[in-house]
Amino acid sequence: MRHFLTLRDLSAEEIHRLLRRAAELKALHYEGALHQPLQGRVLGMLFEKSSTRTRVAFEAGMAQLGGHAIFLSPRDTQLGRGEPVEDTARVLSSMVDAVMIRTYGHDQLERFADRSSVPVINGLSDLWHPCQILADLQTFEAHRGSIVDRRVAWVGDGNNMCNSWIEAAGLLGFDLRLAIPPGYRPDPDVIALGGHRVQLFDDPYQAADGVDLVTTDVWASMGQESEQGSRLEAFRTFCVTEGVMEQAGPDALFMHCLPAHRGEEVEALVLEGAQSLVWEEAENRLHAQKALLEFLILEH
Ligand code: CP
Ligand code: NVA
Repeated sequence: MRHFLTLRDLSAEEIHRLLRRAAELKALHYEGALHQPLQGRVLGMLFEKSSTRTRVAFEAGMAQLGGHAIFLSPRDTQLGRGEPVEDTARVLSSMVDAVMIRTYGHDQLERFADRSSVPVINGLSDLWHPCQILADLQTFEAHRGSIVDRRVAWVGDGNNMCNSWIEAAGLLGFDLRLAIPPGYRPDPDVIALGGHRVQLFDDPYQAADGVDLVTTDVWASMGQESEQGSRLEAFRTFCVTEGVMEQAGPDALFMHCLPAHRGEEVEALVLEGAQSLVWEEAENRLHAQKALLEFLILEH
């Protein structure tokens, strides 16, 4: 049995295989082919934070694969009334074939996984967002081929998405150039996961110089709403502007996990511009997560 709590739960070889499978599943979907290897299988989904893409991709993905997904929130489960996460894990995993969790503290996921008899998937925690990275890699590779030895710039907050990009850089072998204001940089232990592939810059223009991909995310993540004002001030010059994209070059791509705040971390013209792949990136959540479900439920 395998869990997917961070990208490091897969080997580089498994990630490459999963990305190939995601592209195959996308092609099958476009052909209208019925592919239902998960008939009779059930995914439990626990959401402690809001979601559009992650929820719909898992729910639609399970339906398309012939299975079923159950949406659960603390509001309407006993978790919200104090039932321990370990007890919930034992009960839920006795009834379903896999569990996806979106939560705050990453330790909640680890505690659940420790007691779960079925695979547990991280649908986003304060520390990591590995499902998004799978879709991002799939999207990059569909346009530019292998990401190995390419150059990626991250601009903005050293958050869960940034952490998962660092993991990907170390695991797969590409250069990641981070433009993040001091005070908002990832934990040194996380940066170390990228090894020599990760470099820090004070300025988005320096980080973006000649890269293949520029990517960013919101300045205040879910759970940081009270810091919105101070973060607006701290990140003011860490916006992906048309100037930053020019510095990257005409062949550079732009990605953002969404939801986006136009005029904050990215200019509207960049988000909607010819170099932006954000809508395809969002769609690929469906195909990448279907590949992940097949991998975890059928192969392990
Ligand atoms: N990118 C992402 O995870 O989107 P949702 O919050 O809508 O799931
Ligand atoms: N960093 C963002 C990602 C949302 C998909 C958050 O955690 O809110």
